[in-house]
Amino acid sequence: MSQQTVTPADITARALASFDACESPRLKELLQALVRHLHAFATEVELTQAEWEQAIGILTATGDITTDQRQEFILWSDTLGLSMLVDAMANPSPPGATESTVLGPFHIDGSIPRTYGESIAERPGGSPTWFSGHVRSLDGSPIAGARLDVWQNDETVNLYPVQDPDAPEQHLRGLFETRDDGSYAFLALRPTDYTIPEDGPVGAMIAATGRHAWRPAHLHLIASAPGHRSVVTHFFDARSPHLDSDVVFAVKPSLVRPLVHHPAGDPDAPPGVDGEWWSCETDVVLVPEA
Ligand code: BEZ
Ligand code: FE
Repeated sequence: MSQQTVTPADITARALASFDACESPRLKELLQALVRHLHAFATEVELTQAEWEQAIGILTATGDITTDQRQEFILWSDTLGLSMLVDAMANPSPPGATESTVLGPFHIDGSIPRTYGESIAERPGGSPTWFSGHVRSLDGSPIAGARLDVWQNDETVNLYPVQDPDAPEQHLRGLFETRDDGSYAFLALRPTDYTIPEDGPVGAMIAATGRHAWRPAHLHLIASAPGHRSVVTHFFDARSPHLDSDVVFAVKPSLVRPLVHHPAGDPDAPPGVDGEWWSCETDVVLVPEA
């Protein structure tokens, strides 16, 4: 019997066939497509053994740096555009609805309910910013009792409170409910541009490829209401210099908002605000469940 040489294509075919008997059609589809695309990638770039070893080292370092507070695998997904691609496929948005964007790693469960107009800042500092508007259904009707879960970074330390051991427990986050007319309002701080964590393998990739690590200033929110699809999204500050180059590709033009400046002494200042402040009036539009 003559001995035949095993070619790279034979190896791909064998790896694909190893899943032929998989009982779950979806698992089979996922794993065969994964093998097909991984092998096509390695073939296209003629992956060397040294590069493959380096990739294994990067994956190992990604696992090593990941903790309860730090998810480096999600950061890879975010910075390679995969998170936004999966989000876009899962949440198609009809015209007029508030579009979704990435959740990010800094959301925490267990924020406290706050009342209409309350401040989410639990310590002094920062530029007060009044967010207000209505939560509406796609046909424009206001939704009473809709829930807004909001969180943001602190411009005084340039960190999310979850990254800052000195931050008060409930700092810069809160749960709000809309009033009977669908209105909401809360006092936040002016969000600032910030860099994603750069001290791990994702940071090394960003440095090695000449990218930057900046995200444009934004407020995060999850809006939900009975009978409607929840939306995970941000409102971006229109003045950010990084709107066109967000490191995680999360900016959608419909989510960019002007923040209006008000000088000190403005008679319309929110309660407790003495100096200058900013405001952002914006509705959130939810899609009824089919
Ligand atoms: C954020 O907006 O908080 C975020 C999103 C993706 C990666 C890092 C941070
Ligand atoms: Fe963020």
